[in-house]
Amino acid sequence: MKILVTGGAGFIGSNFVRYFLEQNPDDSIINLDKLTYAGNLDNIVDLKGNSRHQFVCGDISDQVLVDQLSAETDAIIHFAAETHVDRSIVNPEVFIQTNIYGTLVLLEASKKHCHRRFIHISTDEVYGSCPEGDFREENILTPSSPYSASKASSDLLVLSYYKTYGLPTIITRCSNNYGPYQFPEKLIPLMISNALEDKALPVYGDGLYIRDWLYVLDHCEAINQVFHRGEVGEIYNVGSENGKTNLDIVQFILNALGKPVSLIQHVKDRPGHDRRYAVNPEKIQKELGWKSVYSLESALEETIHWYCKHTDWWTRVKSGEYRQMYEKIYGVSL
Ligand code: NAD
Ligand code: TYD
Repeated sequence: MKILVTGGAGFIGSNFVRYFLEQNPDDSIINLDKLTYAGNLDNIVDLKGNSRHQFVCGDISDQVLVDQLSAETDAIIHFAAETHVDRSIVNPEVFIQTNIYGTLVLLEASKKHCHRRFIHISTDEVYGSCPEGDFREENILTPSSPYSASKASSDLLVLSYYKTYGLPTIITRCSNNYGPYQFPEKLIPLMISNALEDKALPVYGDGLYIRDWLYVLDHCEAINQVFHRGEVGEIYNVGSENGKTNLDIVQFILNALGKPVSLIQHVKDRPGHDRRYAVNPEKIQKELGWKSVYSLESALEETIHWYCKHTDWWTRVKSGEYRQMYEKIYGVSL
C-alpha cells in the first residue's frame, strides 16, 4: 500500500515513518509536512534516498496538493497539527486553520479517492481534565484549551465522515508522548535541554499536574496495529497508565543528569491548566492485543541520553538556526 502520512517531519510523525517503513517492507509513504517551526528535516535525514519514502513540503490546507497526493495513495495517517497548548493560548487562529480546516481538506480528498483507511491521530486532551479514575472512548469531550478544542472538533469531523459517507476512519487518542526528536518546547525535552545548559527549569504552578507518559515507539506500534487491524468507525485510547506529576519528571531528569534541584523555578501557572489526564487503554489491549512495553524509567533514561548525544540537534532547533540551514542544504524555503 502507498500511504499519505501528514506531519511526518514532526516528533511523533518522524518516529512513526521510520518505524512503519521498517515494520512494513511492502508499503511506501508520501510524507506531507509544511515544515513549520516544529517540523524538522533533520528528524528524517536518514530516510533521504529511501525509495519507499517521498518527502513533500506543503500544507494540508492546500486542496490542490492534497487532492493530487491522495490520488496517488491508498490511505491517510494524519499527524500534522499545531500541537503546543501554550501557543494555542496566545495564537489560536492557526490551530483552527490547520487542525480543523486542514483535517477537513484531507477528509474530502480521502473520500473522493475512495481510500481504504483514514487514521486520525488525536489526543487524550479532548476529554479534558480527569479528577479521578480514567476516561473511556465513549466519554464526552470537554476540552479546555484552544489546542484541545481544535483537536476535539477535528475528531467530530472525522466521525461525521464515517457516519455520513462511510469513509473508513479510525481515531486514536493517546496520552503525552516522549522520546527522541521532540521539539524542546514540551516539558521533557525543554527540561533536559535547559538542565544541560544550567538554565532554570520553569515549572508551572505547584508542579503537581499529572500526565500519563507514553514512549513514542509504544505509540508507533499502537498506530501500526490500528492501521492493520483496527475496526473502522472506532476510537482507540492509547496510554501507558503511568501517571506522574510534572515535579516527579523534572526531579528524575535532574537526578539522571546530576544537576541540582535548585534549577527548578516555579513560575506563573498556565491559564486553564488541566490538572490530570488519564485514559483507559483496555479497548486497544483487549481487541488488538497492544500494550505498552517500555518502562518509564528506562525509556526516559534512554531519552535523556539521546538529548545528551544530540546537543547539535536541539541547539539548532532552539535557536531557529535550522531554518537558514535547511534553505541552504535542502533548498526548502521556509
Ligand atoms: P509536532 O508539533 O512535533 O509536529 C507536527 C508536525 O506537523 C510538524 O512537522 C509540522 O511541520 C507539521 N504541520 C503543522 N502544520 C501543518 C500544516 N498546515 N500542513 C502540513 N504539516 C503541518 O507534533 P507531535 O507531537 O509529533 O504530534 C503529532 C500528532 O499527535 C498531533 O496531531 C498531536 O495532536 C498528536 N498528539 C501528540 C501528543 C504528544 O505528546 N506529542 C500527544 C497526543 C496527541
Ligand atoms: P506539555 O509538554 O506542554 O504537554 P501538555 O500541556 O500538552 O500536556 O506540558 C506537560 C505538563 O508540563 C503540563 O502540565 C504543563 C507542564 N509544563 C511546565 O510545568 N513547564 C513548562 O515549561 C512546560 C512546557 C510544561
